[in-house]
Amino acid sequence: MPTTTRPNPRTCPPSAHARPILTGHLARCPRSARRNGRRSARVRVEDQQLRDRHPGGTAPVTDGACDGRPDTADRYVFDREWEREHERLAALEAVYDGVTLDRLAGLGVAEGWQCLEVGCGAGSVARWLAERVGARGSVLAIDLDPRFAEGHGLPNLTVRRQDLLTDPLPADAYDLVHARALLEHLPAREQALDRLAAATRPGGWVVVEDFDIEGAMAAAVARYWPAGHTGLAERLYSALQAVFGGAGGDAGCGRWLPDALARAGLTEIGALVHAPLLRGGTPFLVLTLRQLRAPLLAGGLITAQELDKALELIQCQEIRYTPNFMVTAWGRRPG
Ligand SMILES: C[S@@+](CC[C@H](N)C(=O)[O-])C[C@H]1O[C@@H](n2cnc3c(N)ncnc32)[C@H](O)[C@@H]1O
Repeated sequence: MPTTTRPNPRTCPPSAHARPILTGHLARCPRSARRNGRRSARVRVEDQQLRDRHPGGTAPVTDGACDGRPDTADRYVFDREWEREHERLAALEAVYDGVTLDRLAGLGVAEGWQCLEVGCGAGSVARWLAERVGARGSVLAIDLDPRFAEGHGLPNLTVRRQDLLTDPLPADAYDLVHARALLEHLPAREQALDRLAAATRPGGWVVVEDFDIEGAMAAAVARYWPAGHTGLAERLYSALQAVFGGAGGDAGCGRWLPDALARAGLTEIGALVHAPLLRGGTPFLVLTLRQLRAPLLAGGLITAQELDKALELIQCQEIRYTPNFMVTAWGRRPG
C-alpha cells in the first residue's frame, strides 16, 4: 500500500487554510484501490495463443513521432525504474478509480464480458474488471511495464508486457477497451485510439481518460489551490505542461478525447470533466512532482524553491487542492 507522508500541520503556510471547502461532486471521496492478498499464482496466456485466435489484428504505429523514432516506450515522461513508481501508480488509482469504476459499471460491464485494459499500471482497474466479469468473462491487461500488475491470482486476468503501438492486438474482439492516463503520453495518440477502437467488437465500448491541465485549465486548477498560492500553482502547471510536451505528450489531451472518439468512428459518445478535491498529504501529486523534479527544474519555468514550496503546501493536511482536471470519455462501436 502507498504510504502517506504526514507533514507537521504547524508548517502549513499561514494562508493555506483560507480557502472554502467544496462539497458534492467535486469533493467526492476517492475510493481506495482494491488490493487483494491473493498474489500466489501467476496467470499468463502465451502471446501466440492470442495471435492464433485473432490473426487479423492491428498494424504497428511507427510514424507518430516527429523525429522518426518509433512512437513508443522511450518517450514516456516517467522513469519506470524510479524506486517509488509502483507507489505513485497506486496513488493515482486511489484518486481516480472512484469515477472510473462508476463509469464502467454505468456502461454495463457485467458477467461474461471480454475486456482489454491498456497501460494497466498497477492494475486496480484490471482486477476490478476481472472480478466483475467473472469466470465466463476475461480481462487482458497490457503495459510496457506490467510488473506492478502481476501476481494478482485471478484466473480470468492475463497481464502481459505489450506495446499498444507496435504489438498486435486482435480485431473486433472486446466488449470493453479502457485506457486511463495513457493517450496523453503518446505523440501518435490518434493512431493509438484507432487501435483501441479496432480491438473493440461492434457494439462494444471504448473508454478513455486523460488529464487536462493546459492553458485555461491550468489556471482553473490553480483556483482550487489555497488562496495566496494560485500564482505558484499556475507556474507549477506551466512547468508540468512543458515537461509533458517535451516528452511528446499533451497535457490538454483530455479535452481532445470526445472529438477524437467521434473521428475514430465511435457513436453514443459521452464525456465527464471532473476534478477531485484532495486533502493535503494525499500522495499522488507529491510523488508525481518528486518523480518529475529534474525535468521540471530543467525546463526553467519553476525554481527549486518554488517546487519545494508547492510540495510543502500539498503535504499540509489542513488544506485542500485539486491536482488535475480529468476527462472520462466513452463511445460505442457501431453494431
Ligand atoms: C500514467 S500510467 C497510468 C496507469 C493506469 N492506466 C492508471 O491510470 O492507473 C501510464 C501507463 O501506461 C503505460 N504505457 C505507456 N506507453 C505505453 C504503450 N505504448 N503501450 C502500453 N502501455 C504503455 C506505462 O508503462 C504506464 O504504466
